[in-house]
Amino acid sequence: TFEVVLARSGLTVRVPPGVTIARALAGAGIAVLMSCEQGICGTCLTRVLAGRPDHRDQYLLDDEKAAGDRMTLCVSRSLDARLVLDL
Ligand code: FES
Repeated sequence: TFEVVLARSGLTVRVPPGVTIARALAGAGIAVLMSCEQGICGTCLTRVLAGRPDHRDQYLLDDEKAAGDRMTLCVSRSLDARLVLDL
């Protein structure tokens, strides 16, 4: 379980194991624009303001994953207890 903090709306949402960030946000009433939901298309790409994403997608290049400033919310998770997103 980790927490996602939405910088613009000020919301904090818990993401339990087995639930994607996108679905956890949807459950909190925050709709994330999505298409493939498999980490392929990049539609759900979101800026990361703090915390290290655990990239599980096949969309970002290795150097983009290493930069850690953007992530896909449909499949990727968090290496830290807290991620701050530009949402
Ligand atoms: Fe396609 Fe997330 S919806 S990468």
